[in-house]
Amino acid sequence: MEIRKPKNIHAYLNGIIEGENVAHYVKPYKDVMKIYKNIDENLTPETIMYEVYSLFDQEDKYLLWGLTIMHPITVAQECNMTRGHYHADKSQPEIYFGLAGRGLLMHMREDEIFAEEVYEGSIHYIDGTYAHRLINTGSTDFKVGACWPKLAGHDYKAIEDKPFGVRVYKKDGKIVLE
Ligand SMILES: [Fe+2]
Repeated sequence: MEIRKPKNIHAYLNGIIEGENVAHYVKPYKDVMKIYKNIDENLTPETIMYEVYSLFDQEDKYLLWGLTIMHPITVAQECNMTRGHYHADKSQPEIYFGLAGRGLLMHMREDEIFAEEVYEGSIHYIDGTYAHRLINTGSTDFKVGACWPKLAGHDYKAIEDKPFGVRVYKKDGKIVLE
């Protein structure tokens, strides 16, 4: 029997996903500016808000693995957040797990909205019928892992049409929901 090296390494606590077929992209402020209530003149358009690593989407892969690293940035006092999405196929769920930092995982479905606290070791089963968004409420990088079926896909447009109904701010060091 041949004993092989793993194709990928995910150094959970302080690393990134490395190895074969790792996709990486960064999300600059200019790409997410419109999801925030106000514009922050102190941020340059190129400010990197968050980064995403994932095992490259190959045709024969039905389960995907990823890592999101959200930097501790606020936009006119509003906490750094992902765009958020529904799954194109709402029958497909996803698992998120907290790796570092602190934040929230917001869920939204019709008139229902809630958030779960995310921190090192927390595990979150996301029912595919909920839209989901990550928010960094801490003062360090917020790192969250994910595992999801390729079949899930992403629907960002539904969020643009009907945004999350609650915003999360950090004012005088306190988290404020509005
Ligand atoms: Fe998802």
